[in-house]
Amino acid sequence: MATTETRFFKNFIGGEWMDAASGETFESLSPATGESIGVFPKSGPEDVDRAVEAARAAFEEWRLVPAPRRGEILFRFGQLLAEHKEDLAQLMAREMGKVLPEARGDVQEAIDMSFYMGGEGRRLFGHTTPSELPDKFNMSVRMPIGVVGVITPWNFPIAIPSWKIAPALVCGNTVVFKPATDTPLLGERFVELLGEAGVPAGVVNVVHGGGREVGERLVQHPDAPVITLTGSRETGVSVLKAAADNLKHVHLELGGKNAIIVMEDADLDLALDGIIWSAFGTSGQRCTAASRVIVHRAVYDELQSRLVTAVERLRLGVGWEPDTDVGPVINKAAIEKIHEYTQIGRDEGAKLLTGGEVAGDGELAKGFYYRPTVFADVEAGMRIAQEEIFGPTTALVPVDSYDEAIAAANGVKYGLSSSIFTRDVNRAFRAMRDLQTGITYVNAGTTGAEVHLPFGGTKDTGNGHREAGQAALDVFTEWKSIYVDYSGKLQRAQIDNIE
Ligand code: UN1
Repeated sequence: MATTETRFFKNFIGGEWMDAASGETFESLSPATGESIGVFPKSGPEDVDRAVEAARAAFEEWRLVPAPRRGEILFRFGQLLAEHKEDLAQLMAREMGKVLPEARGDVQEAIDMSFYMGGEGRRLFGHTTPSELPDKFNMSVRMPIGVVGVITPWNFPIAIPSWKIAPALVCGNTVVFKPATDTPLLGERFVELLGEAGVPAGVVNVVHGGGREVGERLVQHPDAPVITLTGSRETGVSVLKAAADNLKHVHLELGGKNAIIVMEDADLDLALDGIIWSAFGTSGQRCTAASRVIVHRAVYDELQSRLVTAVERLRLGVGWEPDTDVGPVINKAAIEKIHEYTQIGRDEGAKLLTGGEVAGDGELAKGFYYRPTVFADVEAGMRIAQEEIFGPTTALVPVDSYDEAIAAANGVKYGLSSSIFTRDVNRAFRAMRDLQTGITYVNAGTTGAEVHLPFGGTKDTGNGHREAGQAALDVFTEWKSIYVDYSGKLQRAQIDNIE
């Protein structure tokens, strides 16, 4: 999709495509080449208000559409995503930067989620339970909540919107969607396909623009009772505060500082593959990326040298070339932040084994490329082992025992993903118990969550909710307990059941 002329896009509100009320715009540029992807409305509070009003009005009908029918629309959406998998992946390589196999994986995740949540239309199970009184029936059912404000990041520009929007819809809610300003065209395509799948006007609305102008208004809008956000810890805290006055349901997926533990009995070939994939896949820009590798000293030297050899073989380039292993990072601010952490690591006394610089030679000068970076001799308390860098940088932390490894792994404020490589089954089970994260892998890296299991983390990674799996339904529904008394007389619970 080499763009020769500028393409203009709009918001989608109440089934109509429209510019921002202010007429202002912003441009989406490719992090791979700097080329223009398109120009989008730079919306403001007025546009958000309009979208929330459209979603609120649509909710009154959508909530009454039988859930299996809502699910069928998601099945069609999944099919459309599958038909468009290749063009969405190509667009993703350009607009977001990830390499094609990973871009296809991103779309696949949305296909899987759409089918999974489509099936939920015929489940959405509640509970029945006996009453303490005779001739009385008790049940609890899931009820939709209303308008859901969906704020998504650029790193999984198709998958993450699906994690939020598919369950929101099958549960009977309507949506105002603010895609990341780095990937607006993918957000736009997502909504276009939802429309094609049969989502009625007003049920999903898209408002482009920044966090300050669009996100803030959405979070504070009294008629959007649910907010779901994937982003940084800082954004999460400010969203929680801003939503507090309206007592909103806020679902947050925030940062990670995920560790792979390599024990002395690990299969080192396997561990190396796991480290390369988890630390440098998506240029390290996954919440689940392995930005720490905690290694038993007995295998530390060997792992270190083999890792450097493998990392130096990784080829940087545009994501759509078949021989590229690592694509660009998302933008200028990202590359500056990543490089700043290289300086921090050096100043802290960690040993830079490889990388640590911007790759600006030849064609790469047009985009934002950073050499895959490995630090060794990192102490667990150093900033490069504590703070989320969100780039192709990982830190090797040597330890002497299992207990020390677990303490280091848990000794961060985040708790998203963790992994252990070991051949000892007892140790593996201990790690499953001891690692304080929402996701733990045994003999695999820290990435690769599947859509039908809960996704999310402990501690500062979130606020106790999970997306994906059955757990997602808890974010997008509220329980209603229903008591049906068919005794024909007034029975008083807690009073009439005691003889
Ligand atoms: C994210 O980085 O926010 O488990 C999502 C994984 C992917 C999803 C990552 N399936 O790495």
